[in-house]
Amino acid sequence: MLVSAKDMLTRAREGHYAVGQFNINNLEWTKAILLTAQEMNSPVILGVSEGAGKYMCGYRTVVDMTKGMIENLKITVPVCVHLDHGSYEAALACIAAGFSSVMFDGSKYPIEENITKTQELVKLTGNLGLSLEAEVGAIGGEEDGTVSMGECADPDECKRIADLGVTMLAAGIGNIHGKYPANWPGLRFDVLAAVKAKTGDMPLVLHGGTGIPADMIREAIRLGVCKINVNTECQIAFTAAVRKYIEDGKDLVGKGFDPRKVLAPGVEAIKATVREKIELFGSANKA
Ligand code: 13P
Repeated sequence: MLVSAKDMLTRAREGHYAVGQFNINNLEWTKAILLTAQEMNSPVILGVSEGAGKYMCGYRTVVDMTKGMIENLKITVPVCVHLDHGSYEAALACIAAGFSSVMFDGSKYPIEENITKTQELVKLTGNLGLSLEAEVGAIGGEEDGTVSMGECADPDECKRIADLGVTMLAAGIGNIHGKYPANWPGLRFDVLAAVKAKTGDMPLVLHGGTGIPADMIREAIRLGVCKINVNTECQIAFTAAVRKYIEDGKDLVGKGFDPRKVLAPGVEAIKATVREKIELFGSANKA
């Protein structure tokens, strides 16, 4: 069964740890993350971007594949399937397809429009027992080779969105998606503390988990972050491991060309990355 993120995040807030959202791209990714969460007895959130959803042949495929794995791999830890940075339309499509959680990213809209759209989704998800993530202050990142620094959210705007009754709130605090540039000044803990002061018990979400130093992650959790998103780091680890397999010529030995063999080191690399993050976020044995 897929579960909403509400319970896991409430427990994370009370227990001062964070639950990892690991983005998935295909069967190997999903399997690697589920098996690691189970092995570590940790709750887990599978993030699905609109692009990844399309790549995996639609949201229904994602839901059915995940449910099938939960059953066949005997996964008993709480698993949430969550739309990552969705448009309003994608949120509706994921709800219809059976996702247990959605993010509506209205950060690109003027705040009034972000509020109106978020409010509609609060009603819809609330009636269905699903969780909803909202965003204030766009998270930067690399687009077409240009790295934009993350915005910082306005704490008063965060309060307005939190008061709508969303389950969790992503607030920009200078974090960005992808690799951080060498001159990145770090997370703005002053902004995070101000957002926390205004939003009270609202679980806060830290996007752009790749490459944030461990001490900054710990400080972010201390200041109220309950969910941390990781995507790029698993991609880098997967690709490096598959590259090594090929560069070592292992695909040329025996049946080394079998795709299940080619991708196996990549799966192990994702598992190692997820293991390390679950350890750092403190969600091991919190299932
Ligand atoms: P990274 O790719 O930087 O880990 O960010 C993931 C993320 O925030 C997904 O929403």
